[in-house]
Amino acid sequence: MSSRSPIRTWIVFGALGLAALLAVGIAGYAVMGLLVGRDGATPGMGEALVGGPFELIDGEGRTRTDAEFRGRYMLIYFGYTYCPDVCPTELQNMTNALDRLGDDAAEVRPIFISIDPERDTPEVVGSYVDHFYPGMVGLTGSPEAVAKAAKAYRVYYRRADDPKASEYLMDHSSIVYLMGPDGKFLTHFSYGTSDEEMAATIRKFL
Ligand code: NI
Repeated sequence: MSSRSPIRTWIVFGALGLAALLAVGIAGYAVMGLLVGRDGATPGMGEALVGGPFELIDGEGRTRTDAEFRGRYMLIYFGYTYCPDVCPTELQNMTNALDRLGDDAAEVRPIFISIDPERDTPEVVGSYVDHFYPGMVGLTGSPEAVAKAAKAYRVYYRRADDPKASEYLMDHSSIVYLMGPDGKFLTHFSYGTSDEEMAATIRKFL
C-alpha cells in the first residue's frame, strides 16, 4: 500500500502547476511592463533597449542594413505575408498614417520585416509591400538574420498549428516602431492605434 494516495498526488501536482502558472504570469507581466511602458504611449525604461542593427534582403535581392536609413525616421513592422488579417490591417494602417502626413512622409521610411523567412522569399516580400505605401521596404533573410532583427526589436514570433501541414500561421507580436534619424527608439504603436493617432504622434517627432 502506498503512503501517498492518488488524490493527494494530484493535489500536489495541481498546486505545483498553479505555482508555476503564477510565476510565469508574474514574469510575463513584468516583461510586458518593461516593453510597453506604463501608459503605452510614452517610452518606458525598457524601450530605450528596443532596436539595433539588422542585415536583411529586400525585394530586389539587395542586402539592406539599418545603417542606410540614418537621417530618416524608420516606421518598422514585423509580420508575414501569409497573415490573414492582422499584418495587412496594420500595414494599411501605416500606409494611411503616412498618407495623412503628406509631403512630410518623405522623412519617414516604412519598413516591413518578415518573421516567416521560410515562405517569405525576397520576391514574395517585395511584391507584397507594393500593395501598400509606395516606397515601403520589404525585408526578409536567413532564419538567423531574421531572428537577430526580431530579437533586437523584442519581437516575439512562433510558428503555430501543425508543423507538418503545408499551410501554417505564425503567432507574432504586432507593434509598429518609430525609430529616429539616429536609429534610436522613439515610440511604438500597439495594434488598434488609429492611423489618425499614429500620424499625429509621428508628426510631433518630425
Ligand atoms: Ni500577422
